[in-house]
Amino acid sequence: MTQPISFTFAETEVDAIAGAEGRVAVLVDEGGRLDIVARRANRLTKGAVKRLIEGERFAKAKPGDVLSLAYPVGMAAEALDVVKLARRPKVEEARKAGVELAKRMGKADLVLAAGSNTRSDEIVTGLALRAYGFDTHKTAEPEPRGAVTVMCSKPDEVKADCAAPLAVAEGVHFTRDLVNEPANHLTTTSFAERLKDMENLGLKVEVLEEAELEKLGMGSLLSVGQGSDSPSKVVVMQWLGGKKGEKPLALIGKGVVFDTGGISLKPAAGMEDMTMDMGGAGVVSGVMRALALRKAKANVVGVVGLVENMPSGRATRPGDVVTSMKGDTIEVINTDAEGRLVLADVMWYAQDRFEPVGMVDLATLTGAIIIGLGHENAGVFSNNDDFCKSFLKAAEAEGEGAWRMPLGQAYDGMLKSRIADMKNVGGRPAGSITAAQFLQRFVKEDTPWIHLDIAGVASVKTDTAYAPEGATGWGVLALNRLVADNYEG
Ligand code: BES
Ligand code: MN
Ligand code: ZN
Repeated sequence: MTQPISFTFAETEVDAIAGAEGRVAVLVDEGGRLDIVARRANRLTKGAVKRLIEGERFAKAKPGDVLSLAYPVGMAAEALDVVKLARRPKVEEARKAGVELAKRMGKADLVLAAGSNTRSDEIVTGLALRAYGFDTHKTAEPEPRGAVTVMCSKPDEVKADCAAPLAVAEGVHFTRDLVNEPANHLTTTSFAERLKDMENLGLKVEVLEEAELEKLGMGSLLSVGQGSDSPSKVVVMQWLGGKKGEKPLALIGKGVVFDTGGISLKPAAGMEDMTMDMGGAGVVSGVMRALALRKAKANVVGVVGLVENMPSGRATRPGDVVTSMKGDTIEVINTDAEGRLVLADVMWYAQDRFEPVGMVDLATLTGAIIIGLGHENAGVFSNNDDFCKSFLKAAEAEGEGAWRMPLGQAYDGMLKSRIADMKNVGGRPAGSITAAQFLQRFVKEDTPWIHLDIAGVASVKTDTAYAPEGATGWGVLALNRLVADNYEG
């Protein structure tokens, strides 16, 4: 997988600044006060730092912005990055600083003079999250990524503070790699293998094959994959870091490795984007990796349904009726509304087997959520206000956009079928809500549940706060925090 950049933590050594190669970053607060390293950089550059911060660009810069001096006189570095940041910044300001530094870094090394900044760990978090590129399929030999040396007054403390965030950043990168991977490389089989490999980290991983899924009665999930040559699978990942016997939180992911639409075939333009239709499963996998890497003190189970939605002589037809594991029958009006068919069985299985204290499902479920919320917010649906609030709080704290949407009986009524218990689409109006209503039919009355429609945020065509264009890893940070804040004693 794409490895996060490496960090070392060291005492501040002012005399090392002149000879440091690559880039050097110094922090300057809004008042323009220079710390000891910035003062040395200023002296070496014959006052360039002072002139920069007395100028208009620095005055106009926002907290976390970076102004760069190229090939500074008197220094070996290729650039001096002057970061506008208070000694006690807000989390989002410190992360922004890290992100901006990562954008400039490229393949160069970086010496970050963090001094006694109270959010050095958040600067590091921003750096680690943004320093990502997916070049697996470029034949040119990739240049090794640069390394970061964090110079600060308490290196041991800062290093300890950074351990968990760096574990989570690795989870985010794992998710992005999965979501960016094309469907001929990430098949249901190779996806399951990548998850099985996480047993090394202390996760318990089971791969359920088609024969077992049939025995379990997962006719809904299996109907989606039956047109593909890739076998459908359900992967169960358990992290048991909490109290013995305590019921887990369940994370459920839609893992459609490619969504052609099936017999209800999608138009050609943009179909290539459907390599990201396993985004929900990708996020669940990244969270499980993060929890294992940071040895979270909680019981969490991740269950993902891995299928490929293809047209073929064996594919499900519009009008077919399938039977879910729950026993309810579904009239498949549109084979392109396949994600809900997968989730229905995976959610039922997870509740049946684990009796979770709460269940969160993630899915690139509807184009309609992009019409509603664009690429800034995921759609949040829930049957439990307290559970929902704790998620929204976690997402807000992590800077991941999330917006609650309504549920209601009238929407559920739109799923009425003439010949089966329900149909799989409710028509064009409120497309994201009727999709959520469909899912809710597979949520037990007493299971607190959140559905996250991440179609708009899983992969985007522009840079985002923490990621370059492509897969974002949206949700790994928020769900990791949800676990940390609510399920770890
Ligand atoms: N995977 C798509 C949703 C999607 C669209 C994800 C765009 C990411 C970007 C989903 O399976 C789908 O095709 N949904 C249909 C539902 C419709 C047939 C009711 C849609 O949104 O058009
Ligand atoms: Mn579809
Ligand atoms: Zn889909």
